[in-house]
Amino acid sequence: METLLIFIGVLVSIGLVGLLLWWLINATEGVYLGRRVVIWLYDRYAHRYDRTKEFETAYETAYLGRPLLQALDTPNALILDVATGTGRLPATLFQRPAFTGKIVAVDLSRQMLTRAAAKLQYELDANRAYLLHCPADHLPFPDNTFEAVTILEALEFMPSPEAVLREIQRVTRPGGVVLMSNRQGREAKLLPGKTMSNERFEHYLTATLGFEFIEIEKWQVGYALVWAFKAGDSATATARPLGEIWRCPTCDQIALVPQPNQWICTHCGQTIPVGADGVIELFSAKVDRPARKI
Ligand SMILES: C[S@@+](CC[C@H](N)C(=O)[O-])C[C@H]1O[C@@H](n2cnc3c(N)ncnc32)[C@H](O)[C@@H]1O
Repeated sequence: METLLIFIGVLVSIGLVGLLLWWLINATEGVYLGRRVVIWLYDRYAHRYDRTKEFETAYETAYLGRPLLQALDTPNALILDVATGTGRLPATLFQRPAFTGKIVAVDLSRQMLTRAAAKLQYELDANRAYLLHCPADHLPFPDNTFEAVTILEALEFMPSPEAVLREIQRVTRPGGVVLMSNRQGREAKLLPGKTMSNERFEHYLTATLGFEFIEIEKWQVGYALVWAFKAGDSATATARPLGEIWRCPTCDQIALVPQPNQWICTHCGQTIPVGADGVIELFSAKVDRPARKI
């Protein structure tokens, strides 16, 4: 009898540990184990991300590409996609013939960016898209730079979603548009402390970050789509080359110029390598004394 009880106890313990591991790694994508684990998991998952997600062109166009283009002051806009993954948002927007702008896309998973680069090769070669390996909570751009900033299916996986939202607000120009997703329903309940109800999210965006004209709509399973405009007004942020908008990690100056396989700062000599796939390796660049924490 005693042996049977011990056996059952061991089985239950193994089951509970298995459940905990499933929750920590699978259900919550490593977010409670820290940024390194999240990115490690995305690096491993990158090769099957698009296959698993089964993005449908018509659906992506209807919910993302077309309405975003309509929300812009100009089709020649400068856009930032934060946590771009395999380049879903840029790929959708570049499919709109009327869109003539440029998109800077950042992510911390190098493998996800490799997939994005393959998808956006034509736009990378034409200097219409730039892929930057860097974290979402330290964006290397001055205040009020972008006409639109997007972040889809990613806030809940950040160490601090609030810090990322503050960065997004900072780099959006007054009057510019922000498009976000907000995790909802059963999927949100699996991530305690990492998500907000739509009501709380709207309140946070308006009361804390000063966004206005918030619109929240149903989107895909587990997510709402949230549109917001940064309060105020300013000149439209039209498309500009990356060299005119990103700061050197060492001296903080806007002085990086492109060379064949790297960017070089004309102010302090800092170099930032570019991978064979075209991804700019800001995160792994050797920086002696960074001007800001990466
Ligand atoms: C579910 S994917 C979403 C990708 C894309 N936005 C989409 O909708 O398909 C989440 C992305 O967030 C990225 N990510 C997670 N934490 C990050 C961080 N701290 N900084 C930058 N990117 C991060 C991951 O690498 C991954 O590509």
